[in-house]
Amino acid sequence: MIHDRASLLNLLIESGLNKSLVVSHLQRCFGSSTGKVDLAPSKKQQEIIHREDKYGAHNYAPLPVALAKAERCYLWDTDGKRYFDFLSAYSAVNQGHCHPKIVKALIDQSKILTLTSRAFFNDALGEYEEYITKLFGYDKVLPMNTGVEGGETACKLARRWGYDVKGVPKNQAKILFAHGNFWGRTIAAISTSSDPSSHGGFGPFVPGFENIPYNDIKALETKLESDKNIVGFMVEPIQGEAGVVVPDEGYLREAQKLLNKHNALLIADEVQTGLCRTGRMLASDWDNIKPDILVLGKALSGGVYPVSAVLARDEIMLTIGRGQHGSTYGGNPVAARVGIAALQVLVEEKLAENAERLGVVLRAQLAAIKSPRIALVRGKGLLNAIVINEIGGVTAWDICMRLRDNGLLAKPTQGNVIRFAPPLIMTEPEVMECVEIIRKTVLSFDS
Ligand SMILES: Cc1ncc(COP(=O)(O)O)c(C=O)c1O
Repeated sequence: MIHDRASLLNLLIESGLNKSLVVSHLQRCFGSSTGKVDLAPSKKQQEIIHREDKYGAHNYAPLPVALAKAERCYLWDTDGKRYFDFLSAYSAVNQGHCHPKIVKALIDQSKILTLTSRAFFNDALGEYEEYITKLFGYDKVLPMNTGVEGGETACKLARRWGYDVKGVPKNQAKILFAHGNFWGRTIAAISTSSDPSSHGGFGPFVPGFENIPYNDIKALETKLESDKNIVGFMVEPIQGEAGVVVPDEGYLREAQKLLNKHNALLIADEVQTGLCRTGRMLASDWDNIKPDILVLGKALSGGVYPVSAVLARDEIMLTIGRGQHGSTYGGNPVAARVGIAALQVLVEEKLAENAERLGVVLRAQLAAIKSPRIALVRGKGLLNAIVINEIGGVTAWDICMRLRDNGLLAKPTQGNVIRFAPPLIMTEPEVMECVEIIRKTVLSFDS
């Protein structure tokens, strides 16, 4: 077995891989580590990693493991090794990998009619629109594909509502966001980002967006009182990418009260927190509120297809007229059938209840791990994180690498935070097995 970076480097180069590519990949993979490599991926996996590195843009820093198969909460690498999935493709696979009902919907519809564009009607979209609007209690839905398109659509709706309904002077509409927000990678999305790795070097940015501190009702109130051109506040009920930051109970409820008072919209970005992830169908349900605009994505397809949606009442939605917004693939028949199936699975399999129950178990078990390396356990439902004390140079990345070796895949977010967000179909014995892997892994750094 190889135990240090230098030996791994030599071996990879001897096996014929390009030296600069190997070095750059090792730096990205093990850059801030102790210099120890727990277990190198096999030659087969190295080749896969090398090919991606050579021909693909370097805009991600994946954990070095090459996956080939998945089912429920399990992933298998190209050598047949099985792992628990503790990321769920950033909460897209809430229903578990390759859920048979969702895959069937995808395959069945793919054989009949895949894409008409919205130039014509199709016989699946209306059924989906009726189903999703009734499920969430909104007048209308605007279908898109990715989460960021959902956020962008919500911003356009808020601006149009601001001009047409609220009466904001032309081009003066302002939308508020919270520090630490993440809603994607387009120019509009990064224009609101407080994370330099997201926006650095990509300016100039979109005007009309402003940030206020997260979980700070007073800051929202002050801002609303100082500017009547504010048309909305787009906020994540729990900030996922910022490291699973859970606000005070009642934060959204208080925010909505203030926004109502100042005639501005609450836009809930539930792309990550929605669809049973936090133990309720929507994280907004914890505060018993209905956002004016709701943005959904990720698990709206259970991980088989890009499907996102924006829901709102008519007063807001109908401010965008025919021909004023759209997407070639948005609302296509496959997405519609997949969307219905994905939502039905969440309801039929009571995944909100399962997430709530197992989340309590998971956090209690993680909190009981006696290691100075775990500074904090936090989360709601099955959207959780541990904050790592970087003792002796051991980073969250190092812990994720060893978790990988021990059969569980998780990824650091924001440096020293490891997000734990398994598929919601897990059973309690499976959660306990995962806790044992995490306990063994964390404690192994102390011995
Ligand atoms: C809260 C939130 N909104 C929006 C997005 C963007 O979704 P997508 O990557 O599908 O564009 C993400 C992605 O992680 C997210 O976490």
